[in-house]
Amino acid sequence: MAQPMVGGDGAHSYAKNSSGQGRVMERAKELINEAIADKLDLKLLKIDTSSTFRVADLGCSTGPNTFIVVQNIIEAIELKLLQADRQNPSTIEFQVFFNDHPENDFNTLFKALPHSRKYFAAGVPGFFQNRLFPKSTLHIINSSYALHWLSKIPKEIVGGNSLTWNRESIRNKRFVNEVAEAYSAQFKNDIESFLNARAQELVAGGLMFILIVAVPDGIPLSQTTLGVFYDVFGSCLMDMAKMGITSEEKINSFNIPNHRPTPKELESIIKTNKYFTIERMEQLANRMSQSTFLAKCRTSAVRAVYEGVVMEHFGSEFVEPFFNHFTVKVEENASRFEKFQNPIDLFVLLKRTGDELN
Ligand SMILES: C[S@@+](CC[C@H](N)C(=O)[O-])C[C@H]1O[C@@H](n2cnc3c(N)ncnc32)[C@H](O)[C@@H]1O
Repeated sequence: MAQPMVGGDGAHSYAKNSSGQGRVMERAKELINEAIADKLDLKLLKIDTSSTFRVADLGCSTGPNTFIVVQNIIEAIELKLLQADRQNPSTIEFQVFFNDHPENDFNTLFKALPHSRKYFAAGVPGFFQNRLFPKSTLHIINSSYALHWLSKIPKEIVGGNSLTWNRESIRNKRFVNEVAEAYSAQFKNDIESFLNARAQELVAGGLMFILIVAVPDGIPLSQTTLGVFYDVFGSCLMDMAKMGITSEEKINSFNIPNHRPTPKELESIIKTNKYFTIERMEQLANRMSQSTFLAKCRTSAVRAVYEGVVMEHFGSEFVEPFFNHFTVKVEENASRFEKFQNPIDLFVLLKRTGDELN
């Protein structure tokens, strides 16, 4: 099960270490504007200046990125009302739902809500593979950098007796075909559950924006900087065992419940769902050079995301020495990061079809 990002606003928190993702959101703003201008039919949605427009951000974490994306959506709706429909947007009301894992630090999120916001905010704890909202109540759903987290570790991977279990370390697990396939199958299941739940909640004609880190089509994970990342992460764990800080046995049962799909893989999963059409799928201009990916690994950006899963498995005392050692290992492997291609930021725009629910 995915663990929430590091809460609070301390040095290792997600709030202080997610500006890389935030920068991409600034770029995605243009795509959101275009989507709302071209693909959202406010008349079909029966939205005018006396309506309540409902937006949800799924996997919002603690901010500030979630506030940026929500603001982008609201400004685009206001612009559309003003320009295309010649309506004064000042009377429309917005309701925004911030969803995340129940253990997310919602207190930090709520305290950071922008004072100047033009929306009514609500927190919705829950897992987005399940239903979170009443039927046909949302007009726009966003999910950024969250859908790669799996609801669970694939059953084929768990346990020392399974075929695909691998004694080496986390790095090698990801590069074994059967293991990669098991993660991919779990991802498919989770995305299908996610889409089916959203199909119930989104009004016909409503839009969904997905931002996800993907592995470029045709390039094996091991040939990307993400592959180097897993490799270094795994060898760092093994070093911890050699130093007596943990055991190999403990490492063998450690897994990270996430999967980075390829664009084609994601596309083919979505295409089997009759409730959504893919209106746009676009690779955003690469946010990171290899050296910025490397820099990200050197900083708390990795810790802000992975501390939760590491702590859950190895305990809180393991965290500090592990991430300190990880930074050293990243440094030692700097030239390897420079050689490989980065993962990509993929923007996907989906539209809810008019198909009735079964
Ligand atoms: C990397 S953060 C992204 C936060 C924010 N959307 C952004 O772009 O900066 C991923 C978030 O997804 C949440 N998450 C992962 N699995 C989830 C699930 N099944 N249901 C709800 N939230 C989930 C995590 O708790 C985490 O806060």
